Amino acid sequence: MFRIAAYMLFGFGVLSLQADENLITQGKTLFQTKICFTCHQVDPAVPAPAGMALKAPTFLGDFWGKEREVHKGLGGPIIKVKLDDEYFIESLKKPLDKVVKGALAPMPPPPPVTDAEIKALLAYVKSLSKAEKKK
Ligand code: HEC
Repeated sequence: MFRIAAYMLFGFGVLSLQADENLITQGKTLFQTKICFTCHQVDPAVPAPAGMALKAPTFLGDFWGKEREVHKGLGGPIIKVKLDDEYFIESLKKPLDKVVKGALAPMPPPPPVTDAEIKALLAYVKSLSKAEKKK
């Protein structure tokens, strides 16, 4: 009985790992096709010129879960937020609600992304932060 339960747990673990991998791969592709990469640098060797001009945040190093100061609304009061799932999703759905301090412009609305695509992008961007931490 215990054995069966263990096998089942192991099976589910492998399945969900695979799902994560797929999501990350999907997100990586979307990051290109939805032109996120033109503004958000994810590879130290590949600069994002449009993002540099706008001072867009890079997704390099250990960035996930870190605090940043943002304007609540364009030019609004400064508040602190953490880059987490919720803020990531909000950044894409309502780019003008919270605007990173120091950015020269708010993030222009990117090409429309569906909820499923946002989920994949989130998985991908989050995975970048972890990858750097291991080094
Ligand atoms: C034309 C340039 C541009 C493109 C394209 C772009 N962004 Fe942005 N993004 C910005 C700028 C500038 C900011 C900072 C200002 C702000 O918060 O609105 C930002 C902020 C963000 C933030 C908040 C990050 C933080 O550190 O607080 C996230 C998350 C984000 N973008 C994700 C994406 C994703 C995912 C895509 C692709 C679907 C994308 N962006 C496409 C320019 C861009």
